Amino acid sequence: MYNWDDPINEALNKPEPVVPTATEKVDITSSDQISAESTDVLDQGYTGMENLEKGAGRIQVDDKAIINCRADLNQLIPFKYDWAWQKYLDGSANHWMPEEIPMHDDIKVWNDPKALTEDERKIVEVNLGFFSTADSLVANNLVLAVYKHITNPECRQYLLRQAFEEAIHTHAYTYCVQSLGLDEGKIFNMYREIPAVATKAEWALPFTQSLGDPTFRTGTKENNQRLLRDLIAFYVVFEGIFFYVGFTQILSMGRRNLLTGVAQQFQYILRDESMHMNFGIDVINQIKAENPELWSEQFQSEMIDLIKKGVDLETRYAYDTMPKPILGMNSKLFEEYIKFIANRRFIQIGLPEQYPGATNPFEWMSEIMDLKKEKNFFETRVTEYKTGGQLKFD
Ligand SMILES: [Fe+2]
Ligand SMILES: [Fe+2]
Repeated sequence: MYNWDDPINEALNKPEPVVPTATEKVDITSSDQISAESTDVLDQGYTGMENLEKGAGRIQVDDKAIINCRADLNQLIPFKYDWAWQKYLDGSANHWMPEEIPMHDDIKVWNDPKALTEDERKIVEVNLGFFSTADSLVANNLVLAVYKHITNPECRQYLLRQAFEEAIHTHAYTYCVQSLGLDEGKIFNMYREIPAVATKAEWALPFTQSLGDPTFRTGTKENNQRLLRDLIAFYVVFEGIFFYVGFTQILSMGRRNLLTGVAQQFQYILRDESMHMNFGIDVINQIKAENPELWSEQFQSEMIDLIKKGVDLETRYAYDTMPKPILGMNSKLFEEYIKFIANRRFIQIGLPEQYPGATNPFEWMSEIMDLKKEKNFFETRVTEYKTGGQLKFD
């Protein structure tokens, strides 16, 4: 039983801190992010941390909104966005852990000087360097920048699931680095030392710094567009384009029965990433549907340029990491593949294709995402990471 006079509970006996309620005005005049005429912007959204409104009316579905919601964010039900809840269930059903994948054969291959060429070794190292820090960046973006501004409990439920999956991915890359006995300092500092790796992270950083700015609030057209832009930068470009050259390079090694454990780790990560991207696209399209004024001609044109910039950077990554053909692939094929993927991303968020006629030179990548075919694919031990519910891959 608690002794309320015990010094250990001193903190509990202190008067409650004064926390502004959602309806109180907060001085935001120091912020240069919010225009003077929008001083009621803080009234337009809840974070879920407000004081309880005792006796307030019960939450109705129509009270819910994906951004700038006025309803209590601590009530998951009634659901408004079934797609978000379904993705949370699917992601949870696909749970896996890096240690479940055997790495013994990979260690033998890596330590056999004749098993891999220098170019193949470089591809493995650079991709582990890129992804190990990229997934950490995505996780930080979710927790410290995106989460606060998505004002819907079922979407937040998926964001929490995604954040844990990003931690598993960083764990998986670290597990690969340690299993193969790679130089940890070299790998984890690549995003500061190797231009091909640094450039993509550098491009993405302003978009997370933007939302993570403590003075930033949604509620104005300009700031709602800024949120939408940053979601497109991370979900469509970073997770939807920047991951695909690396994934293809590593998975192609698995297809050749080289480093099958590393390849299998990447395969499970790719399955998760595909769902992250599809969730992000659903969020982006939902924000558009609820706030059609944001999707102006000018904004669409800016988003096309943003995605095309991502295509350029990923193409450069392909050329930098694969200066000469290996594994039956070359940089030219990657250039085509990135355009093919980008066309799909444009269509998924309601923009016109920008690379007419681009085809998919790596159709096996689509197949590899299908776990049912995995059993014959890598010829390694296969675990169906199904812990319940439906095992489905968007
Ligand atoms: Fe990830
Ligand atoms: Fe992700």
